[in-house]
Amino acid sequence: MVTERAPRDNASLTGTTQLAAALRDNPQRQYVMFGGKGGLGKTTFSAATAWWLAKQGKKVLVFSVDPQASLSDIFQQDIFGKGPVKIVDNLWAQEIDADRHIREYQDEIRKKILDMYGLEEVPAEIEDYIQAASAEPAMEESAIFDSVVDIVVQGDYDFYIYDLVPLGHALYYLSMAKVYDEWISKITRLREEMREYEEVAARMKRQKEVDADQILGELQYIRGRINAASKILTDREKTAFFFVLVPEQMILLDTRKAADLFAKFDVPIGGYVVNRVLPEELRGQNVPGYLRNRMEMQRGQLDEIRRTLGRDVLAYVPEFERDVTGLPMIERVADILFADGTGGGAGARSAASSKAGQGSEAAR
Ligand SMILES: Nc1ncnc2c1ncn2[C@@H]1O[C@H](COP(=O)(O)OP(=O)(O)OP(=O)(O)O)[C@@H](O)[C@H]1O
Ligand SMILES: [Mg+2]
Repeated sequence: MVTERAPRDNASLTGTTQLAAALRDNPQRQYVMFGGKGGLGKTTFSAATAWWLAKQGKKVLVFSVDPQASLSDIFQQDIFGKGPVKIVDNLWAQEIDADRHIREYQDEIRKKILDMYGLEEVPAEIEDYIQAASAEPAMEESAIFDSVVDIVVQGDYDFYIYDLVPLGHALYYLSMAKVYDEWISKITRLREEMREYEEVAARMKRQKEVDADQILGELQYIRGRINAASKILTDREKTAFFFVLVPEQMILLDTRKAADLFAKFDVPIGGYVVNRVLPEELRGQNVPGYLRNRMEMQRGQLDEIRRTLGRDVLAYVPEFERDVTGLPMIERVADILFADGTGGGAGARSAASSKAGQGSEAAR
């Protein structure tokens, strides 16, 4: 039978994990993120972490900008585009509807143009420009980024768990300096475009004096907001970024590359979580050759993971007999992720290794 227990064949694959300590010992780490390639378990661990923190009495928001609505799937509730939805006591989940934010963003630009130039309706050429600008990926990212900033700067929660999209995109979001630059240049370009239309508009509505500084003031306000948010997200004190990987050669290679890249962007890496480890208990059983081969392969990769990532691995999570959806499954994952031997969860076992790996920073 497949059990939910982590394999305990040696000291570093014990049933206890350091993830609880990593959060508990650093209570100022309010922003928690799991990064990694597609489908490895980011949403699963985000939900489990949010659930565990909420159970510790912390007010938690787990949120995503993923159009796939994966939080809706895992919590088995339609939360897409509905603002923060309460899941259980202390736990809220939110899925941002990025498309809606882009539409709102367009409306805002339209309204500003109308106000500034005192027009009744947006001239066709400006409307074309707004449409074209909004279709660009950078604009989409800006709208998403802005809504993330909105959530984070409001400060309504003790913890924010940002359920990220797969690595490539996540890196893009996280390389705040880059996003920030594109944002500003996009707006600056828009501002220049507006200047071009200034004349046209002035001709259309002669009596209105255009206040050029109004947009610049707006820009500076936005710049301040983005600066504040990017500081938070690359703040070693406040942010914990964990990598999710599985015991497979390519994934380990990619993860190490990504970790180097993240370190360059100054994203503080808190450690690694290894997911989908085939339960050691299977070894004693009469498993088919196919599965035995998979287990052998994993064993080699787990050795490699221990050798290269060592004490920065904060938890090992087994492959379950089914996918992780619904609160009981989330609880099972949380029990294993946060089994630090201090009791509380079904996964809590020996406290023997609770000190190992503390304060480890993979991105040193
Ligand atoms: N340990 C596990 N045992 C069994 N199923 C798992 C395990 N971890 C994750 N899963 C399942 O694998 C699938 C992918 O997991 P998840 O959605 O958390 O990955 P993700 O990294 O968020 O993916 P994406 O990159 O697409 O956002 C889900 O169906 C989830 O339930
Ligand atoms: Mg996901």
